[in-house]
Amino acid sequence: MNVPLLDLVAQYATIRDEVLPAVMRVVESQQFIMGPAVPQLEAEIATLARARHGIGCASGTDALLLPLKALGLEPRDEVITTPFTFFATAGTIHNAGGRPVFVDIEPDTFNIDPRTVEAALTPRTRALLPVHLFGQMANMERLLAIAGPRGVKVIEDAAQAIGARRKIEGQWRMAGQLGWVAGYSFFPSKNLGGWGDGGMMVTSDDQAAERLRQLRLHGGTKQYHHDEVGTNSRLDTLQAAVLLAKLPHLAAWSAKRREHAAYYTQALADVPEVKPPVADPCNEHIFHQYTLRAERRDALQAHLKAQGIGNAVYYPIPLHRQDCFAHLGYREGSLPVAERAVREVLSLPIYPELPGAQLDRVVETIRAFYR
Ligand SMILES: Cc1ncc(COP(=O)(O)O)c(C=O)c1O
Repeated sequence: MNVPLLDLVAQYATIRDEVLPAVMRVVESQQFIMGPAVPQLEAEIATLARARHGIGCASGTDALLLPLKALGLEPRDEVITTPFTFFATAGTIHNAGGRPVFVDIEPDTFNIDPRTVEAALTPRTRALLPVHLFGQMANMERLLAIAGPRGVKVIEDAAQAIGARRKIEGQWRMAGQLGWVAGYSFFPSKNLGGWGDGGMMVTSDDQAAERLRQLRLHGGTKQYHHDEVGTNSRLDTLQAAVLLAKLPHLAAWSAKRREHAAYYTQALADVPEVKPPVADPCNEHIFHQYTLRAERRDALQAHLKAQGIGNAVYYPIPLHRQDCFAHLGYREGSLPVAERAVREVLSLPIYPELPGAQLDRVVETIRAFYR
């Protein structure tokens, strides 16, 4: 029995009767650009994030790029972020004209370590860009306490964390609620995935919302009038319709992922060679990925592959060691916690529709490898 890392066809089978009519309504209306599903989804995602505004855009990448552009970064301006993330997090800082400053991560959650952020602040620090990696929130309360008094903005990379939440001083706070702006990705493999690319920014800053709406439409609100140079980054009506139809399922899908994660963690508890992912007790994790640390990781990965079990290394190279950032001057050893993580991590199948027998097969195959 092969076990895929992700099976979007299995999800499609459960929702096709809800999504296809929604798609066909858009097709019949022919309102492919900024049709009614777009503002409707924006309102619903803003409600989910407990933010005042949702602003759809073309991708999760643009959901970071546009708020970074709104900061008006000068060439030597710095944005502090994590090296243990998908490339877009730092690529957008560069493309917005800033300089990524990488700091190390917490060994248990893999999220940016607020202590390292504090040490990296300079007079040129304009923003912090924490990532809520694999579906659990970074330590937002500490990051906000560091950023706020210095006038440094916090932009949340919530691409992997829609619907995740964190208890802060006894209150649940959503991923996307606390930063100046947060970006979500609707890439098809995400917990809430479209049928193509898509993204959304959320913010409770009215002025920022206005600015972001302009930036996604060539920098103007009135047609053929341009206050600044923006770009074309709209969310397609078709994607908005798909996402609106899928949104009511999101909480149950994420709960199912949590259930699978608990099952793996319990079933692997007596395998000392693997360390299951650690959820910070303040966090409700949505397990976009189930990422463990494994001894002899590369050999385990090859074994799983040979046995037909999907898996992936997110991420094999920390961003401070990417060739395109060589000019920033980081060396092997600069950020040791992240460098160790890339050698040890392995993500297992965790999608909601994963049958129990397949979970057992993944567990058995790992146990057999270490036996
Ligand atoms: C952490 C993180 N940031 C940003 C992105 C970019 O999102 P997209 O692929 O929708 O552009 C992703 C998507 O993979 C991501 O995982």
